[in-house]
Amino acid sequence: MPTEKINEDVFWLGALDWDRRLFDELIPLPDGTSYNAYLIRGNEKTALIDTVDPKMADYFIAILDQIGIDQLDYVVANHAEQDHSGTLVAVLEKFPNAKIVCTPKCKKMLIDFDLASEDQVIEVENGATLSLGGKTLEFLHTPWVHWPETMVTYLQEEEFLFSCDFFGSHLASTELYSKDDDLVYRAAKRYYAEIMMPFRNKIIKHLEMLRKLSISIIAPSHGPIYRNPDFIINAYENWVNGPQKNIVVLPFVSMHNSTRTMVEYLVDALFRNGVTVKLFNLTTTDIGELAISLVDAATIVIGSPTVLGGAHPNVVYAAYLANALRPRTKFVSIIGSYSWGGRMVQQLTEMIPKLDVEVLDPVVIKGMPKTADYAALDHLAALIAEKHKMLE
Ligand code: FEO
Repeated sequence: MPTEKINEDVFWLGALDWDRRLFDELIPLPDGTSYNAYLIRGNEKTALIDTVDPKMADYFIAILDQIGIDQLDYVVANHAEQDHSGTLVAVLEKFPNAKIVCTPKCKKMLIDFDLASEDQVIEVENGATLSLGGKTLEFLHTPWVHWPETMVTYLQEEEFLFSCDFFGSHLASTELYSKDDDLVYRAAKRYYAEIMMPFRNKIIKHLEMLRKLSISIIAPSHGPIYRNPDFIINAYENWVNGPQKNIVVLPFVSMHNSTRTMVEYLVDALFRNGVTVKLFNLTTTDIGELAISLVDAATIVIGSPTVLGGAHPNVVYAAYLANALRPRTKFVSIIGSYSWGGRMVQQLTEMIPKLDVEVLDPVVIKGMPKTADYAALDHLAALIAEKHKMLE
């Protein structure tokens, strides 16, 4: 599917990356991804919105050859990250008179990344417009979705919003439009959790701004296009600002079964108290699934053994990630076991300064759990249930 027509003058011409399984060498991609670019033909000028990842550059240039455009006037760079801007050099080699249109911060980044030279770029301020002849592009600065230089582009006559990373999903699909709501919702939530969640306070403001626009479709630069913009805008509003759910996310590692015994007991105790638990064995889990669960869980309980005086390294990684992703979690606790001492609790609590949480009394014990330890876990489960009820 090299190109798809959205209407007579607007085309999708992206690239599907079916077998990519990792993004930024960090984020698991169970469903691959797509890099969506869009071509808009006005009466006088033609513009390309974003390009594709450099690994697909040859494919993308072949598509441009195939559709036979003889003139390209502008390439809008909504975002400087290489999966959208990495093919700018190849596109401008083919169309040397085309100008890149982007925010001032994006211009600086493109020059820093060697993707453009000073004279190739037109900077646009927030709210600036560009006429293609019967088609007007409006540029709306939306910093931090996903980097500080990002913007979205609004095609006024058609009310199409080209949102780049914002509202995206890592989903390689031959269906241009979102059809399977459950599948797309899950992929978009994963994308939000892994990429957008740290910036949710900025996103709240961007959503307020977009609610004032009349939007007929949202065309992101990853994943399917939304013909029902409310589907994804409502989802985002819920993820950034909705109520925290009666859920405990429990990532854990156990070396000699002591921590696992505690984890399993706590899961039962939480269940008896009416609390849902999402359990993640950090030696095998997909870290993206853990991130999705953090979007709306009220509590995180970390389970760890003690290794060389501190938490297990996989637990340290998960705590670092949770702190970086900044979920809206309200409560945190720590459970685990040690053999000869350590400072695991202090280490882990110091690792999460960005989480605005109340730390509930940890249950960290020596060796296997005994009667008093089970009582402490019962107390923790009851306390979590009580705290969650207060959120309702
Ligand atoms: Fe799809 Fe932030 O790049």
